[in-house]
Amino acid sequence: MADLKTELAAALPRLQKAVFSQPVEGAAYQKAALRPVTIKGRPLFQLECFRDNKAFHRNLTQEDCLLAADEELAGRYRQVLIMTADGAAQYVLRRDGGYRKSAKSSVPLPGGGAPAHDREKRYLLAEGEDIPALVDLGVFTPELRIVKSRYDKYRQINRFVELIDDAFSSVEPGPLTVMDFGCGKSYLTFILYYYFAVKRGFDVEMIGYDLKADVVARCGEIAGKYGYDGLRFEVADVSKDTLPDKEIDLLVTLHACDMATDYALDYAVRHGAKRIFSVPCCQHEIDRSISRGGDLDILLRYGIVRERVSALLTDTIRAGILEDMGYEVDLIEFVDLSHSPKNLMIRAEKKHAPRRKNILRCRELAERYGFTQRLLDLVDPQGE
Ligand SMILES: C[S@@+](CC[C@H](N)C(=O)[O-])C[C@H]1O[C@@H](n2cnc3c(N)ncnc32)[C@H](O)[C@@H]1O
Repeated sequence: MADLKTELAAALPRLQKAVFSQPVEGAAYQKAALRPVTIKGRPLFQLECFRDNKAFHRNLTQEDCLLAADEELAGRYRQVLIMTADGAAQYVLRRDGGYRKSAKSSVPLPGGGAPAHDREKRYLLAEGEDIPALVDLGVFTPELRIVKSRYDKYRQINRFVELIDDAFSSVEPGPLTVMDFGCGKSYLTFILYYYFAVKRGFDVEMIGYDLKADVVARCGEIAGKYGYDGLRFEVADVSKDTLPDKEIDLLVTLHACDMATDYALDYAVRHGAKRIFSVPCCQHEIDRSISRGGDLDILLRYGIVRERVSALLTDTIRAGILEDMGYEVDLIEFVDLSHSPKNLMIRAEKKHAPRRKNILRCRELAERYGFTQRLLDLVDPQGE
C-alpha cells in the first residue's frame, strides 16, 4: 500500500504533473491537477481544481502541497497519476482509504505527455499536457490526445509558443499586456495565455480581436469556464474600429487575413509594442496593384510567380518599416512549407530610436511599380 502524501513528497522535486481524478465522497472538486510554476522567480506549484465547469487556481509551496495532499486530496480521488522527470506512476484508491500503486510505470516526455506520434517531435506544450481549453476548442480529445484533423494547427501553435518561449524564457514573470489581432477560434490565444499565465505565472492581460461575433462570444465563454480572468475577446474590425490606447508588451497575429496584418503592425508601432510576432496570411494588395515598368518585369509575367513575388515584397516592406520604427527585425520560417504555405514569421523587438531609411526606398519602389501597400500608406500617408 502506498501513502499518497509520502509519494507526493518524494515526487515534488522532479514533478511534471500530478492529476487527481474520479472524485469520491468528500472531494470538493471534480478533478485537480498540480504542476510546477515559477512566479516572480520563485518555484511554486499550481493547484488547478475544476468544479461546475469552472477552474480554480492556487499557487502553493511544497509544504502547502503536502498539506493539501493531507486535507483535500488523499482518499478523495479514486485515480491519481504522478509524473516526474523519472517516470509516471498510477495510484488507485483502495476500499480501506489507502492507495495501491499500479505496477506500470513509463518514462514521460518533457512537457508531461507520452503519446506515440510526439516521439518524432517533442513539443513545449506536449500532447497530454492538461490544457482543458484545447478540449473545448476541439484540438485535444477529452483524453488530451491531439484530434487528428487538427494536427497541423496544433503544430503551428506549438511552434509559435516555442518561438515565444525563446524570447521570454529569461524574462521574469510580471505584468504583461498581449494583443492578438484576428484571433479567430483563438487556439493560439488560449495556448499563449496558458503559457504565460498558468505555466510561467505572468500577470497577463490578453485581448483577442476578431470580426466574428459568434466566435468571439464562444471564446469568451471558454475563458470564463476556466477562470482565465486576464483573457478577454472583443468584436472589432481592426482596420477601422478604434481600439484602446494601451501600452502593450506583445502583439501577435497568426494568419490574420490580408491587410489585417498591416493594421495590427501599425497599431503595434503606434503603441510602441515591445515585441511583435506576426505570421501574415494571404496578401493580395501588391499582386492586384503592381504594374510593369522596370527591372522586375520578368517576375510579373506568370501569375503564380507574381503572386509569390508580391507576397515576399509585402513582407520585406513590412519588415523594413518596422526597422525604421525602431525594431530589430528578422524574418524566419515559421513551420515547414509542407504544413502551411503561409509559413513566414515577422519577429521584431523594439530596440532603437526611429529613423527614416527603408520607408523612402519602399515609397520609391511603390511609385515606380504603381503598387500600394497598406502598412506603408498607414505609416507614411502622403508619401512624405
Ligand atoms: C485565417 S483566420 C486565423 C485565426 C487564428 N489567428 C488562427 O490562426 O487560428 C483569420 C481571422 O482574421 C479575422 N479578421 C480578418 N480581418 C479582420 C479585421 N479587419 N479585423 C478583425 N479580424 C479580422 C477573421 O475573422 C478570421 O477569424
